[in-house]
Amino acid sequence: MSTIFVTGGAGFIGSALVRLLLADSDHVVVNIDKLTYAGNLESLADCADNERHIFSPTDICDRAALDALFAQHQPAGVIHLAAESHVDRSIHAAGDFIQTNFVGTFVLLEAARTYWNALPQAQRDSFRFHHVSTDEVFGSLGPTGSFSETTAYDPRSPYSASKASSDHLVRAWQHTYGLPTLVTNCSNNYGPRQFPEKLVPLMILNAVAGKPLPIYGKGANVRDWLYVDDHARALRLVFERGQVGATYCIGGNAERTNIEVVDTLCAILEELSPRRGGGSYREQKTFVADRPGHDLRYAIDATKMRRELGWSPQENFATGLRKTVAWYLANADWVGHVQSGEYRHWLERNYGNRT
Ligand code: NAD
Ligand code: DAU
Repeated sequence: MSTIFVTGGAGFIGSALVRLLLADSDHVVVNIDKLTYAGNLESLADCADNERHIFSPTDICDRAALDALFAQHQPAGVIHLAAESHVDRSIHAAGDFIQTNFVGTFVLLEAARTYWNALPQAQRDSFRFHHVSTDEVFGSLGPTGSFSETTAYDPRSPYSASKASSDHLVRAWQHTYGLPTLVTNCSNNYGPRQFPEKLVPLMILNAVAGKPLPIYGKGANVRDWLYVDDHARALRLVFERGQVGATYCIGGNAERTNIEVVDTLCAILEELSPRRGGGSYREQKTFVADRPGHDLRYAIDATKMRRELGWSPQENFATGLRKTVAWYLANADWVGHVQSGEYRHWLERNYGNRT
């Protein structure tokens, strides 16, 4: 049994990873999360009583707090997910993205390096710093081809530039100081507990509320969709068995145009929750101004994950999307608390002195 730091563990992907580690390993998980608007401890309600889950409401930019956590918990490694993650927000105001994604990753790397330097040799060798990144660092594809571990970086939004910068820092810390790092670059995730600013949950919740379904531009942009639990399984595999210094590209092999995603969601909703007053949810589709600098197409070649680690997604897009819609329809409390802002008080109500 060893202790692992997971940063951003109250977010969408982080909470899926924490749940997986608690259910399927012996690790103690120290969940380091500042609880921005995107952090939601209600997403970990089923883990609140788990003795192997320690929550720390800490900013990754706070070096003193990180040093204290490393000294107290002596982790065997770090899986770093904490980030500002929404492209539209980065276009509107990039400051938090530079601060958390770039500066925060630097501060975390330095805290980890200081701790790692003082470890006995065997623990230095087995320590891992796993940085969780995105396929958006590779830029935009034309109609053919896919991103892989050898694709050159070409970030084009404030979000992707901040993530690309952090990837470079992580590799530099491995090359220069020997810190045993791993980097993963993943495609678009979807699934339960995603904050409803992102395409899939926004469309589900707007549809059932009778609101417009805002599609940027012509809806022709393509994303490669991966169910969040498949990403969590991939992260665990890379953390435990990945090669130090290596990069792994993770993707769902499920390319869809945005319009296809929205139409599929509408069809599933019509089955699971028919539209009040009849008609199709598709009637709510509204074409709006395009996202500035909107990348046309992302697609991941995940051959290395399959070949070296035996990973492949368990969900396909049809099954994963259906599960996702069903989850949002069945979890009116989670949705209601996010929409009312009540989710932000979950920490003091339910975690008390467990932090
Ligand atoms: P999210 O926005 O749902 O969650 C981010 C979490 O980080 C939140 O809990 C937030 O409170 C926390 N956080 C933000 N700033 C912090 C800070 N300064 N200190 C401590 N905690 C902080 O994000 P997500 O979608 O779960 O993404 C997680 C990671 O995976 C990110 O690094 C993102 O770049 C990467 N990623 C996401 C996707 C995707 O499709 N969502 C795909 C590939 C990679
Ligand atoms: O590719 C991985 C990335 O996927 C992650 O690194 C990001 O953290 C994650 O947010 C996601 O980025 P996207 O910009 O692709 O996700 P988003 O859900 O914001 O948008 C998906 C597509 O849908 C994109 O082409 C923009 C479009 N869109 C989005 C919204 C919110 C719309 O057409 N209308 C919308 O209202």
